[in-house]
Amino acid sequence: MITINELLYKAIALKDKYLEMHHENVCFYSTTLALIMNLPNDVCEAIRHASLLHDIGKIGIPNNILFKQGKLTPKEWEVMKLHPAIGAELLINGDKKLGIYNLSEVVKVIYHHHERWDGNGYPNGLKGEQIPIGARVIAVADAFDAMTTNRSYRGSLSVNAAIEELKRCANTQFDGKIVETFVEIINEKEYLKYDILLSLKQPSSCLI
Ligand SMILES: [Fe+2]
Repeated sequence: MITINELLYKAIALKDKYLEMHHENVCFYSTTLALIMNLPNDVCEAIRHASLLHDIGKIGIPNNILFKQGKLTPKEWEVMKLHPAIGAELLINGDKKLGIYNLSEVVKVIYHHHERWDGNGYPNGLKGEQIPIGARVIAVADAFDAMTTNRSYRGSLSVNAAIEELKRCANTQFDGKIVETFVEIINEKEYLKYDILLSLKQPSSCLI
């Protein structure tokens, strides 16, 4: 039987093809990071599930805002910023009814994935280690994939340029230690040692 997570994953993939690929890529980068950082197993699991659904709340964002080609107006941006809370709300309902494994940690990570290390993020403006570790890991993986992926309205950055941007934002937007580890993983191609992770890119094996 299809789980609620699989259903949500398919629903967002139908609405936005880019998000399907983005969720898979962020799952790959953030799960690699979590394993190399030696995070506890339950945290790695939460990161794996949350990364695949982190932008699920975009399902509730109107198409004229989600697919807008140009820059969002401040008002539209406020609507876009609701997506972590919408995503968390979708999963909290699933948690209560279906008892999905470890969902409360997953919900927390999804809810806080746009917080910033300096406290200037959203939805709650959490700062530093107040932000769940899973959300800090996903924030780095999310930004890297967004910068290195082509969109219809802008080209992608090279891997080197994206790494420089992550370094520039270390200890302001991102947890500096996580950026440091991520840069090592990409530069040293550490992710190639984790063959098993390649299979995790497939949504069926990433989902519960
Ligand atoms: Fe997001």
